[in-house]
Amino acid sequence: MSVVILAFDTSCDDTSAAVLGKNKQSSIVISQNFIHEPFGGIMPEMAARTHFENIDEATRRALKEAQCSIKDITHIAATVGPGLLPSLLIGVSFAKGLAYRYALPLIPINHIEGHIFANFLEKNIDFPFIVLIISGAHTHLYLVESIGKYKLIGKTLDDAVGEAFDKVARLLKLGYPGGPIIDKLSKSGNPDGFKIPKGLSKKNTLNFSFSGVKTHVKNLVEKSGELSKTFVCDLAASFQRSCVEILCEKTLLALKKYGVKKLVLAGGVSANSALRHRMGLLSKEHGFDFILLLFSIVRLLSRQPKTKSHLGFRDNKSSILPQDSLSVRPFLLFAFGGCMLMWHLMGKSLIFSNPSFEKFFSVVINSI
Ligand code: KG4
Repeated sequence: MSVVILAFDTSCDDTSAAVLGKNKQSSIVISQNFIHEPFGGIMPEMAARTHFENIDEATRRALKEAQCSIKDITHIAATVGPGLLPSLLIGVSFAKGLAYRYALPLIPINHIEGHIFANFLEKNIDFPFIVLIISGAHTHLYLVESIGKYKLIGKTLDDAVGEAFDKVARLLKLGYPGGPIIDKLSKSGNPDGFKIPKGLSKKNTLNFSFSGVKTHVKNLVEKSGELSKTFVCDLAASFQRSCVEILCEKTLLALKKYGVKKLVLAGGVSANSALRHRMGLLSKEHGFDFILLLFSIVRLLSRQPKTKSHLGFRDNKSSILPQDSLSVRPFLLFAFGGCMLMWHLMGKSLIFSNPSFEKFFSVVINSI
């Protein structure tokens, strides 16, 4: 029997459902951007409520697009973390409900592993490699030695780089999500217009810091008083260059320190055109392979339709956890004002600790 997986991702603000099988593939992403835009960032409880409203529709559309019914599905998968706890709960609970109803095995997906291994759907990457995961919640450097063997070698000490892009965009009244808008505006701005500091630059650490950069921009905005077009474009370009340079500096340091010649970029910020350009140049200059990875497994399918026909999964019951063992892991949870749930911080020891991930990805990788 060939494997057909129905997968859910509700780790952040998009409700995603996908079907993944040899001859049946689809991917539906229902965006919530318009809901969070007025706030300039994601409101966790609103995100969860909207997932609740959308997940049924996303599932129906994913099944329809893949031209199959729930009866064709052999496995259910869901992102269990890290992510926004209220949002994760919706996807995991929905997946659990379906798995119980149709007596299907349930596969827990680690958000970060999804980012790392989405690229294996396109091609095999030889180990070891360094992965720079840059998203709205993460700025993490991992040394990936093999499937299941990951070492966290650097991370942000405060804001994630995507979060900094979103916050700076809010300061400049540009809308949400800020990253793509700043990327676009920077093309008409002068990156030398403002001197923006680079957090932890020239320090012998692989950690990052973006809160100082954001505060610096805030001070410049307050001092300027008005947001003229030139001011906004120049500031956007200068801010972006500072982020790109520090990401490149720390990544190069990591490659050198661990003697690795392969770099994978993952997460939403890896879409940044200036970063891709700069990394491309550095890879030639310093002789490392540069692999660009943009989307989670679920999203990848929607953007890379040509790869779909090459995907396949072997049935392997041993890769599956019993249904009851699947639960959302809260990681570090902050209660703010007694009512707002905030982003989770990723704890190294909690991540990738489940051997089933290793088995699951072995199945995926071996079958491509
Ligand atoms: O990986 P992702 O889609 O979602 C998670 O956070 O898990 O990343 C979203 C982040 C947002 O902060 C968004 O502003 C940023 O990625 N982003 C970008 C670009 N496109 C998306 N940042 C800089 N330049 C871009 N072109």
